[in-house]
Amino acid sequence: MPIIAPSLLAADFSNLRHEMGAVAEAPWLHLDVMDGHFVPNISFGMPVIKALRPHSKARFDAHLMIEPADPYLAAMAEAGVDHITVHVEGNAHLHRTLQTIKALGCKAGVAICPATPPEALSEVMDMVDIILVMTVNPGFGGQKFLHGQLAKIRTLAEMIRKSGRDIVLGVDGGIDETTTPLVTEAGATMLVAGSAIFGKDDRKAAIEGMRAAARP
Ligand code: DX5
Ligand code: ZN
Repeated sequence: MPIIAPSLLAADFSNLRHEMGAVAEAPWLHLDVMDGHFVPNISFGMPVIKALRPHSKARFDAHLMIEPADPYLAAMAEAGVDHITVHVEGNAHLHRTLQTIKALGCKAGVAICPATPPEALSEVMDMVDIILVMTVNPGFGGQKFLHGQLAKIRTLAEMIRKSGRDIVLGVDGGIDETTTPLVTEAGATMLVAGSAIFGKDDRKAAIEGMRAAARP
């Protein structure tokens, strides 16, 4: 059964505490932090995450679309996130960045954009805890799933198998009940979903629908 990580980016920003409660059965909460530089959009940062932290039991899964990420890692951990995922693009010293995240006591993730080949991760397979395959170009919710990324998911699933390590393989962008069977069949073990969950009136049913659509 894949891990479902609702993306708060698609929630009602005027009512975030209530929105988190509506997805309480999901084990992770995906937090998209954008800087208006690495991606052409600005979302929210540490002060908002810190304010939300006491009101959720979910693991806080921060996806940093910021360049550079290094100056903000300690503040992210301090704000209470459990996982910090940085992009392979825009973090020149990725190895050191991942070391820093682990030293802060967080799970270390690497996200990979549609135009970047999977081999970009080959030298960090021994230290990464989460790989996040972007199935849209990052920056906005509600975009169309890029089917061309399925081959990359398969390649990374095989790289994970060869590593012998317990690495979560996530997908992010355009994930809904229609694309869930495709990505889980390709090897995804974690599904980020914004509009497919927060765009529905019944968020619980949306989460259950995605679980039911997953391929074992
Ligand atoms: C996009 C973000 C995603 C976004 C996904 O840059 O990383 O997490 O919230 O939104 P949907 O699920 O609507 O495609
Ligand atoms: Zn994301």
